[in-house]
Amino acid sequence: SRVRHYKFNVVERNATRLCSTKPIVTVNGQFPGPTIYAREDDTLLVKVVNHVEYNVTIHWHGVRQLRTGWADGPAYITQCPIQPGQSYVYNFTLTGQRGTLWYHAHILWLRATVHGAIVILPKLGVPYPFRAPYKEVIVILGEWWKSDVEAVIGEAESSGLAPNVSDAHTINGHPGPLSICPLKDFFTLQVKSGKTYMLRIINAALNEELFFKIARHRLTVVEVDAAYTKPFKTDTILTSPGQTTNALLTADQLSGEFLVIVSPFIESLISVDSATATGVIRYSNTLVNSPTTLTKPPLHNATSVATAFIKSLRSLNSKNYPAKVPLATDHSLFFTVGLGINPCSTCSKGIRVVADINNITFVMPTTPLLQAHYFNISEVFTDDFPGHPPISFNYTAIETMHLQTKYGTKVYRLSYNSSVQVVLQDTGLIAPDSHPLHLHGFNFFVVGRGLGNFDPIKDPKKFNLVDPVERNTIGVPSGGWAAIRFRADNPGVWFMHCHLEVHTTWGLKMAFLVENGERENECILPPPNDLPVC
Ligand code: C2O
Repeated sequence: SRVRHYKFNVVERNATRLCSTKPIVTVNGQFPGPTIYAREDDTLLVKVVNHVEYNVTIHWHGVRQLRTGWADGPAYITQCPIQPGQSYVYNFTLTGQRGTLWYHAHILWLRATVHGAIVILPKLGVPYPFRAPYKEVIVILGEWWKSDVEAVIGEAESSGLAPNVSDAHTINGHPGPLSICPLKDFFTLQVKSGKTYMLRIINAALNEELFFKIARHRLTVVEVDAAYTKPFKTDTILTSPGQTTNALLTADQLSGEFLVIVSPFIESLISVDSATATGVIRYSNTLVNSPTTLTKPPLHNATSVATAFIKSLRSLNSKNYPAKVPLATDHSLFFTVGLGINPCSTCSKGIRVVADINNITFVMPTTPLLQAHYFNISEVFTDDFPGHPPISFNYTAIETMHLQTKYGTKVYRLSYNSSVQVVLQDTGLIAPDSHPLHLHGFNFFVVGRGLGNFDPIKDPKKFNLVDPVERNTIGVPSGGWAAIRFRADNPGVWFMHCHLEVHTTWGLKMAFLVENGERENECILPPPNDLPVC
């Protein structure tokens, strides 16, 4: 294994999309940011220098950060932000991980433009558990606002209402040839007939679950969230914010240009409209065409496509890559996740939309939780985060009397190496909504999923404890539930939150505090000297 050095200068630059120009915050002036390449077990030293007027942190989404929570990145959870003019070296090892992950800013809504891919190759000499592709391609899906993203959320904060939705979706930063005011450098993949390409697809969108498809081509999914899956073929990939998907594309047409489409998952048909980001697969022997002659994919019923896709996801669970699903559970938790409405004296309507887990709307501390834990600073958080909702009710029904939430900065305490099950139940108090829940510091297994209310007697009997998909972000279905299991083998304080940025902002977040084990190598490492101060 090697030590790899990267330098991230966080700088502002102007960018033009949809015929309008605005300054955006970027890494090294690039949007999306530069790709980090490494191999399993390598150590990364990424020096982040903040040249902008905002406070900045970077999170390495999906990197386990074994004992190195100091490098995890969520502002006020594991570190104070890097202030303007300051820098911090994120120092961490990619222990036992390979695949596609990504990094993004983890403060305010800066991740709209501060994000990029992390490609972790297997150890030298170790092949993929599938035929090596001819080429690999990074495909980052995102969202674009014409106005300043921080202003959009600032407005929502002061009004207490929902922020404006984005003006376009993007592939590698571009809305594509069918958008208004298309630029020439939209996503184009030149392919040779007969060759296989591996797409490393990252959903970096702030607030949208997305479908990804290519006209007249099928994709073979081989990995999600840097964990190998049983390969399966699909026309369409569903991906939630935070998730990554590696898929093989075999260029099995002879020539031509084929549309790549990225459209939001709304419960209707997958089609091509103004919210769709587009790109092009062009066969090398094709004369240059115009976008109007592209082959477009057919329409599909969105919900059935989504369900079929999710049902097909399974851990590879081979001899070399066994699925280590915890079979017993020391902690059996039930978390309701959803939206509420609280009184607000400063808001224009007198109320504000909030979000909660088990009726707790998380309040960000001003001292990072990890520091408070490590240095025994009292009065930053309490460890009484509830393992169950305060009352049970018909979770998926509209029951307005349960809308009000409580504010708190609470963690749930886990002893080292305990096994944990969390059932995540969407609530339909205002309206049902999907929630891509992301857990820092761990991969988990998705042992069950269903629509409606979780049934504690019947549903566990159907759990898959053999080859459930392993990941770091799970789309809890709208009006439904998902059950995850993990082993708390990483001491520290680990954020769990909805990866829809709007829901995180509203308070759909909490943290697990995992205690140190008895041996030295089961304890948090000391903080680095350059750890930012608040
Ligand atoms: Cu990708 Cu806490 O985030």
